[in-house]
Amino acid sequence: MKSRLFLIGALAFVLGVSSCKKEDTPNRYEVLLPSNFPAPEYNLASNPVTPEGFELGKRLFYDPILSQDSTISCADCHISFSAFSHPDHITSHGIRGQFGKRNAPAIQNLIWQRAFFWDGGVPDMDLISLNPIQNPVEMDEDPANVIRKLNRNEMYRRMFKAAFPGRDTIDGPQMMQAFSQFMAMLVSANSRYDKYVRGESGANLTPQELSGLAVFRLKCSSCHQGDLFTDGAYRNNGILGDFTSDKGRYEVSSMPEDIGKFKTPSLRNVAVTQPYMHNGRFKTLESVMDHYASGVKVTQTLDPKLLENGTPGIPLSSTEKLDLVAFLKTLTDESFIRDERFQQN
Ligand code: HEC
Ligand code: HEC
Repeated sequence: MKSRLFLIGALAFVLGVSSCKKEDTPNRYEVLLPSNFPAPEYNLASNPVTPEGFELGKRLFYDPILSQDSTISCADCHISFSAFSHPDHITSHGIRGQFGKRNAPAIQNLIWQRAFFWDGGVPDMDLISLNPIQNPVEMDEDPANVIRKLNRNEMYRRMFKAAFPGRDTIDGPQMMQAFSQFMAMLVSANSRYDKYVRGESGANLTPQELSGLAVFRLKCSSCHQGDLFTDGAYRNNGILGDFTSDKGRYEVSSMPEDIGKFKTPSLRNVAVTQPYMHNGRFKTLESVMDHYASGVKVTQTLDPKLLENGTPGIPLSSTEKLDLVAFLKTLTDESFIRDERFQQN
């Protein structure tokens, strides 16, 4: 239910302020559209990325001014060197030392996603920032108050004017668009795997990594589909025997058949985003492999794909597990996690 309340607040916030037409800005940043990716879901033409908008979005992302007591920024939970996840934090750690109930996912390739958060509770990339700002255990702030604080700040008044020329005051839609411009640029598609599938010269995978890729295509890619490594669907992969503390997709849909279903995560950069799963249950990739091979728990909503083999789970030999982990490590995109454009100035 929580996600929905946020959404209603978000919509009121958006509708409460009038939008006006943006003047033409000649400078544009090209968002990378990798040849091995499908067409994006986000309408980039509705919010073209400019150098000024990107810099502004980045400044906001790294600024604790967004939280009620100016202690927490987005970047505290989304750290660039771990593909903007929160390494070694089982669940998120927010304002006044409070813990949330979910693991902070990587932020990457968002323009290809249909919905955001583990339960898909936010359907539009432009609305994302409102959720953590309002979340009482993350930033616990009223977006309208954030806008007031930004309007009082000389640097932000200047930066917003540069990013959105012709607008007198800073408003919610401008802030949300600036966030989207920064996040749209967070494209990760330059791992060794990518270079291999695009047939770039000198790009090779080792025999073990190739065996892992073959096992992956056979046993994992029905859910972790395509080069985004997700089908965008909500599924129960058997990590828990009951879902009383977090019902997953049900919290958005209220449909009993959605209890315990979570968005299939992308596996890009997965070697640097530990711990794993919506509740940070597993510390290592090895333990995730053990889970699929022999730890899957049967509940009413368990994905039927994990019941196809007589015993629950996915049969994996010890060699296959090692090969899979070797393959998953080829999905680390060093140029993305070290990209200085995305780091704090
Ligand atoms: C206290 C830690 C924390 C802070 C601060 C925080 N986040 Fe998050 N973020 C999370 C957690 C946890 C999730 C998963 C929430 C869920 O699924 O319900 C998440 C999810 C996301 C996602 C969804 C990714 C996906 O693939 O679905 C995006 C994007 C995101 N956050 C961006 C931001 C931005 C922008 C800010 C600042 C305005 C921010 N976050 C502040 C912890 C945090
Ligand atoms: C039935 C669909 C399905 C299949 C098949 C599947 N997965 Fe998953 N996978 C998921 C879902 C859903 C999650 C997230 C579950 C959650 O957090 O509650 C997930 C999570 C993961 C994660 C954790 C990612 C993160 O960022 O936390 C890894 C790693 C992973 N899967 C690897 C694999 C591998 C390797 C295979 C093949 C052996 C596989 N998966 C097969 C649906 C599937």
